[in-house]
Amino acid sequence: MSSPTITSPSSLALLGGTPIGDVVYSKFPHFSDRAIERVGQVLREGKAVGLGRFHSPEIVEAEETISKYHGGREVLACSSGHAALQGALAGLEICSGDEVITTPYTWGASTSCILHQNAIPVFVDIERDTGLIDPELIEAAITPRTKAILAVHLFGHPANLPRLREIADKHGLALIEDGSQAHGATIGGVRVGDVGDASGFSCMGGKVLPTTEAGYLVTPNKDVFWKAAMIGQHMGRAPDEGFPEELRPWSDSLVYTYRVTPLNAVLLTEQFGRIDAWIAERRRHADLFREKLQGSQFLSMPDCAEGVKPVYHLLTMNYDAEAAGVSRDTFAAALKAEGMLAFGYVPSPIPDWPRLHWQGYAGPKVSWMAALEASGIDYRNMAIPNCRWRVANSIETRFDFVDPQEHMVERMAETIFKVEANIDALREHERKNGAVTSTKG
Ligand SMILES: Cc1ncc(COP(=O)(O)O)c(C=O)c1O
Repeated sequence: MSSPTITSPSSLALLGGTPIGDVVYSKFPHFSDRAIERVGQVLREGKAVGLGRFHSPEIVEAEETISKYHGGREVLACSSGHAALQGALAGLEICSGDEVITTPYTWGASTSCILHQNAIPVFVDIERDTGLIDPELIEAAITPRTKAILAVHLFGHPANLPRLREIADKHGLALIEDGSQAHGATIGGVRVGDVGDASGFSCMGGKVLPTTEAGYLVTPNKDVFWKAAMIGQHMGRAPDEGFPEELRPWSDSLVYTYRVTPLNAVLLTEQFGRIDAWIAERRRHADLFREKLQGSQFLSMPDCAEGVKPVYHLLTMNYDAEAAGVSRDTFAAALKAEGMLAFGYVPSPIPDWPRLHWQGYAGPKVSWMAALEASGIDYRNMAIPNCRWRVANSIETRFDFVDPQEHMVERMAETIFKVEANIDALREHERKNGAVTSTKG
């Protein structure tokens, strides 16, 4: 492994030296000429609204395309990942006071979809190496009120679905997958989204499958599909073929506006035509980066268990602050000054967030507070050591290498090696100036 010869401590860009240069990505998200032409066509035809399959061939095409990708499961195209996830809970009839066991280490929408159903998120700790929910902690958190497990495939890395399915089945719980960062990831040859009773995916413009703002729900269960449609689609999609007669009395417009637009339906269809090629490129670049990182003293990528094939939405690295003698935030700031985006993606464990603390709550009123108070749950100072370790020690970076860009992967490695070669200067800088306090942005 060759690392660049950098001898002068002052050469770090953070300390006034010359930066290595920005890690740049080919255009992302990329929309093909055909996709753009089709979007133009939809606009020219004045198809602004998609009320359901009966109304929009674009929605039929998108849902059928995604369904094919997910082994013929039911698919409901939505306005966002949050809409799809809340639809998953609603479709499973999880609502007021029901408990959902989930991860404290994720994007807020994995939790807010539970709160917006007035259900109660119950957090269990994560695996330290991967940042994913630790299945072995779940059984101790199950109560008579528990209805589901909601697992997140964070950073494109599949959670342990076989074990989660086993636990859910043993206890009669539903399994919900948040695949928003992991379209196309597989475990044991099975795609994420194909194991849960319902799964939600985000397709906002920064995701592995990007549109502008959209999402979709996947479920093997027609009943879950229609009940999800009932909370987020005008008239619950009652005019669509197959709408169950027994649900008709409950179909109305007391809904969230979670429907997909025909414009994004077209983008969903077109982008799915390219997803496998994009994922192959992400994996190829990730393998190269993993190989390069063997030469790093302080950073490593999480191991992949047998049969796990991530899709690397973001790249996450575990940082050994003790060995480096420099805080994560200072190390990340040094990488950033050289031109490589480096940050801690999860700013703090979700249970620490003040809008979950009903005890003495003084913020703007939120709809879920009464349900939390009635449950008596106390999120303050939870013992979740692995989550706390990752919040303080992991480093994330963008990884949207969907075109050949090996030279940028080389540049990332070069940046890391440069900072490591100058670790004494960085230690000295931190000793004099204190640690950098935030890696966000
Ligand atoms: C893990 C996870 N869940 C849910 C969401 C919510 O998706 P959306 O922004 O499309 O509502 C996101 C989006 O960033 C996410 O990363």
